[in-house]
Amino acid sequence: MSAHLSFSERLIRWQRRHGRHHLPWQVTNPYAVWLSEIMLQQTQVVTVLDYYPRFLQRFPTVQDLAAAQQDDVLALWAGLGYYSRARNLHKAAQQVVNEFGGQLPCERSQLETLCGVGRSTAAAIAAFAFKRRETILDGNVKRVLCRVFAQDGNPQDKKFENSLWHLAENLLPSENHDMPAYIQGLMDLGATVCKRSKPLCHECPMEDICEAKRQNRIDELPRKKAAVEVQTLALYWLVIRNTDGAVLLEKRPAKGIWGGLYCVPCFENLTDLYAYAAQFGIHSDGLEEQTALTHRLTHRLLLITPFTAQQTADVSDGLWVNASNLADYGLPKPLLKYLTTR
Ligand code: ADE
Repeated sequence: MSAHLSFSERLIRWQRRHGRHHLPWQVTNPYAVWLSEIMLQQTQVVTVLDYYPRFLQRFPTVQDLAAAQQDDVLALWAGLGYYSRARNLHKAAQQVVNEFGGQLPCERSQLETLCGVGRSTAAAIAAFAFKRRETILDGNVKRVLCRVFAQDGNPQDKKFENSLWHLAENLLPSENHDMPAYIQGLMDLGATVCKRSKPLCHECPMEDICEAKRQNRIDELPRKKAAVEVQTLALYWLVIRNTDGAVLLEKRPAKGIWGGLYCVPCFENLTDLYAYAAQFGIHSDGLEEQTALTHRLTHRLLLITPFTAQQTADVSDGLWVNASNLADYGLPKPLLKYLTTR
């Protein structure tokens, strides 16, 4: 790139030639943009490519989503993880209908009042759907800025984060019509070129102005976050099947792991599991311990031991679901896997 070009000019030219142009959410429908940005917050593009069209097909408009049952929203989200995103999305759709006349607002500050929409997500929606001059600042963008401008601070530090927001705002292109290409360029550069490890500097439009490159500090910037501490949590699943082979499910409380999803009765200790099983006429000799499985969440490693039992006493209460109907319910990913592979 010629040396006189600014950061935004370089990025926009590069995006137009080398960026991603065929992602299904590269549309102007604000509802579709919003949905994709929520899905993409903590989930990779390849996974979202699978979930996004199904969700849009089922809930094509914000009105459809607002009128939905939470269970149906969660059933479509099942397997994506971070389920508060789905609960917030549903609540926010109702906010859009009740507070904004059924149209997504166009200003970043208004978008930020929606449940689950923080500053960076609000900026992405405002830029993509309404061509507003607003900057995003997610992990990928922080990495690009820390390298190109040799910003050497602790990413956990609020002051440093504020300085990155300030820098990012000052880099915005002057023309509104360039905003979608610019923001997509920030995302594409971080995801495909300025990668955390083994960045492809020779393909980067910033190579000749990149300070980290010049100082030979690509590997050291951005500074590493302190490693997250992962605690192990033991869980015990009670998998009761009735004489028809249906399994007993219950809706999980709204807060905590798998909030609002359907799960087999789940306990943190065996005493509680035994007491619960006794209500169904099942005693310890009727319980069969299965091989434990592990499931990693962001801050926790779950060590799950399923106990299977056959229901004998005649208890018809409760939600009994056949294997063929499991997909109608939002189940935690490890449970769906367990029930469909054993
Ligand atoms: N990550 C977050 N938003 C994205 C988008 N619109 N396209 C690709 N990756 C993204």
